[in-house]
Amino acid sequence: MENSIKGLVVVGSQWGDEGKGKIANYLASKADVIVRYQGGDNAGHTVKFNGNEYHLRSIPSGIFYEDKINIMGNGMVINPLSLAKEMNELIEAGYSLDNLVISSRATLDMSYDIELDGLKESKLKDKFIGTTKKGIGPSYTDKAERSSLRMCDFLEDDFEQIYKDKLEEKNALIEFYGGTKISYVNTINDYLKARELIAPHVKETVSFIHNLREENKKILFEGAQGTMLDIDFGTFPYVTSSSVNAGGAISGSGIGLGYVSDCIGIIKAYTTRVGEGPFVTEFFDEKASLIREVAHEYGVNTHRPRRIGWLDLVQLKYSQSVNGFKYGALMLLDVLSVVEEINVCIAYELDGKTIDYLPTSLKEQYRAKPIYKTLKSFKGVDISSLKTYEDLPKEAKEYISFIENYLKIKIVIISVGPAKEQTIIREEIF
Ligand code: GDP
Ligand code: IMO
Ligand code: MG
Repeated sequence: MENSIKGLVVVGSQWGDEGKGKIANYLASKADVIVRYQGGDNAGHTVKFNGNEYHLRSIPSGIFYEDKINIMGNGMVINPLSLAKEMNELIEAGYSLDNLVISSRATLDMSYDIELDGLKESKLKDKFIGTTKKGIGPSYTDKAERSSLRMCDFLEDDFEQIYKDKLEEKNALIEFYGGTKISYVNTINDYLKARELIAPHVKETVSFIHNLREENKKILFEGAQGTMLDIDFGTFPYVTSSSVNAGGAISGSGIGLGYVSDCIGIIKAYTTRVGEGPFVTEFFDEKASLIREVAHEYGVNTHRPRRIGWLDLVQLKYSQSVNGFKYGALMLLDVLSVVEEINVCIAYELDGKTIDYLPTSLKEQYRAKPIYKTLKSFKGVDISSLKTYEDLPKEAKEYISFIENYLKIKIVIISVGPAKEQTIIREEIF
């Protein structure tokens, strides 16, 4: 394959935590520019860099390469206090952050959004979503309602008044939901302090990205969450509030459609989910616990144990259609060496009928039963130091081929451990 992609989207193909941080960081080494296009600090992207492990929440995974520009796009919701904390952590670790640019059009995720996130969740009682309680839903709600604050408002001379007025309006809502009002006096100084750190990085990013593209720079778009958490295409309402899918890279960055040339789907070798909602291939036996422990499947942000399921090709086919990825990165393959057999879901049984698509109705998704093809695993074989595809045990290759044939994609990256060196590159695409 000709090494010609100039704009590549990295998209989570399942319910998040597929290993996007690792791959975005790897691909960033070949890019000039890295753009996060949606979500906020609900994300937790693990990156191992120079022997250290980092957990990025809002900042793109290319930040460790000081010669690469990292942009937080207009599609993001940004909590200034949490961003300042994340920035300070990286500064303390020795990174200048001179390479960080923040869109003036990004939406602000404020104290009241976080408060309302928690309050709304508690009102939903047994139908709660299991959000990260970072204020994501409320801030995107305000964006859609055209009333949210944006990064450009944060920089205005009268931001203090803007925040005061907004807080008054939101405190009425907080009271309605039975919460405790947020004090302006107790919170404004933290925002002003965060602004000092953030303001020098804020830019009008549409013209900025346009100029970089004109200079023929290679741009990597880093998605957060996963397609099944997409506001339109996910398991609604058990989703996040942003356009996670590859199309979100366009609306969330301002790059024109014609300038994004391809997309790589990040696929965990099994499935995990945090939070509530349907999950057809979920299983609960001791194998699930074993996988959870071996792969340390606990949320980066909330430390919640992740739910475990087998790979679901029906779900992945849907995700492949929505994003149009021709390439895949298969992650955490090493983990499957703890099981004797691997189940792969190839269809669903719904009310006695076999179907090969994801039903829209939540009730139908809960009723759908997985139909599995069982493949042999490579139990006991440590693949975590293998360097080439050819070296992989035959069972691992068969698993990869099975996925490729079903999804009609090429798995170009195989990840066999969390570190950068534990990555098998089958084909360079970027
Ligand atoms: P993201 O949200 O998609 O960036 O993924 P997370 O960082 O939330 O979760 C992925 C987890 O898997 C992290 O702990 C990574 O260090 C780890 N990881 C990534 N790739 C591999 C792999 O190939 N093998 C193993 N064992 N762990 C991996
Ligand atoms: P990364 O980028 C996994 C889930 C939450 C909840 C739902 C809505 O690390 O893959 P929200 O706080 O966004 O309103 O929560 O979405 N969720 C994630 N699950 N990985 C993530 O990000 C997630 N971000 C949100 O658990 O079910
Ligand atoms: Mg994560």
